[in-house]
Amino acid sequence: MKIYLETYGCQMNEYDSELILSILKKADHNIVKSANEADVAFLNTCAIRENAHTRIYNRLDEMRGRKKRGQKLVVGVLGCMAQSLREELKDKAPVVDIIAGPDSYKRLPSLISEACGGDTGYDLSLSEYETYSDIAPVRVPGVNAWIAIMRGCDNFCTFCVVPYTRGRERSRSPQSIIEETEAIVAQGFKQVTLLGQNVNSYKYGNYDFADLMKMVGDVPGMRRVRFTSPHPKDFPMKLLQVMKNHPKLCNQIHLPLQAGSTEVLDRMNRTYSKQEFLDVVAEIRDTIPDVSLSTDIICGFCGETDKDFEDTIEVVEQVQFDSAFIFKYSERKNTIASRKYPDDVSEEIKSKRIHELVQIQRGISLVRNELDVGKIFDVLIEQPSKKNREEWLGRSDQNKGVVFSAPQNKPGDFVKVKIVSAGTNTLRGEVVTPAVAFCV
Ligand code: 5AD
Ligand code: SF4
Repeated sequence: MKIYLETYGCQMNEYDSELILSILKKADHNIVKSANEADVAFLNTCAIRENAHTRIYNRLDEMRGRKKRGQKLVVGVLGCMAQSLREELKDKAPVVDIIAGPDSYKRLPSLISEACGGDTGYDLSLSEYETYSDIAPVRVPGVNAWIAIMRGCDNFCTFCVVPYTRGRERSRSPQSIIEETEAIVAQGFKQVTLLGQNVNSYKYGNYDFADLMKMVGDVPGMRRVRFTSPHPKDFPMKLLQVMKNHPKLCNQIHLPLQAGSTEVLDRMNRTYSKQEFLDVVAEIRDTIPDVSLSTDIICGFCGETDKDFEDTIEVVEQVQFDSAFIFKYSERKNTIASRKYPDDVSEEIKSKRIHELVQIQRGISLVRNELDVGKIFDVLIEQPSKKNREEWLGRSDQNKGVVFSAPQNKPGDFVKVKIVSAGTNTLRGEVVTPAVAFCV
């Protein structure tokens, strides 16, 4: 069969798609680059906010058009939206032949056979054990490789659908993660990003996340190690020490704030207060002064007042994040918030707040980036810059995008770059001569 796969959502989904490709290739299917030439089209979907669903429904409409025009096509919805919508998907999008959730990918070859025989293939069972440790992902070539070190989430933040789409938390063995890291190095990747919904709760036997980071950093040939995301409620100080002392572990932390008001955080079941978040940030900055910090923030969660929103602004101004992803609250079916709290902040106020916060954060990002002007960074070249294909886009240890010219170099090279100017999203630099690959 010719199979086409499209991916939506977070890095965990990108990684899952690499697992899916591996499973399908092993079953002798061929992967094609467009839905036009496919026998089977899969959408690996996200459920985190309503707009993620809307995009998929639009794409499914398009698939229905193809079928109507006579293309013989099996359509499959995979991932988080498949898991969370189940019945609704069957009713609203009869074009769908296969529905499989994040723990069912090993069943895909048999679901394809069933669907080709005219049956509808559904598998939405969640597993307490599945970690896909035995599957070698088919990776997109590049500089960075993802490894999911754990799956699922047990936090039950009241706004979040993930515990329902990805099930209970389970960690992979350090041994399988190290073996995968060694394979990544052998394939030429320079950087690995360890993924988990809450990496602080990584636990395997006596190994915790800090132990794992050190072990991955020690893999010969691995040049940079990043991770996402930790939870502020139990940020391990042991991890900070390991990060501080290990040259391969990048000085960058994505620390989701979600809201600045203690009352809102309480309703979100985040289990930390405004002050506790600020204390964690102070401890991080004390230990790793040149760390870069990014965050996620939700505007307009249930019951959020102007005063609550001011708390969020206060934390943002105090912490001075290098960057932030800011979202409007989107009520998700079956979550605790959807059952317990009315989605009572109007669309107008959500828009006003998100706009205000984005403006504030843009100003802060610019100031933070301007502090880098004059500094020299080891930059890992990723790809040609989008604006000017003659220039490179690379990243500093702190994960800042740096654009510069270095005709002799190529993606995967490390280059010493002096920052000459700063924008909101990227830095501009000049290679410190001589412009040759620099070894960390
Ligand atoms: N509405 C808006 N944003 C959400 N997020 C998670 N659930 C929701 C929701 N229901 C955001 C959080 C999370 C990021 C991945 O998505 O900020 O950290
Ligand atoms: Fe990723 Fe969450 Fe979206 Fe699932 S719902 S794809 S875990 S962001």
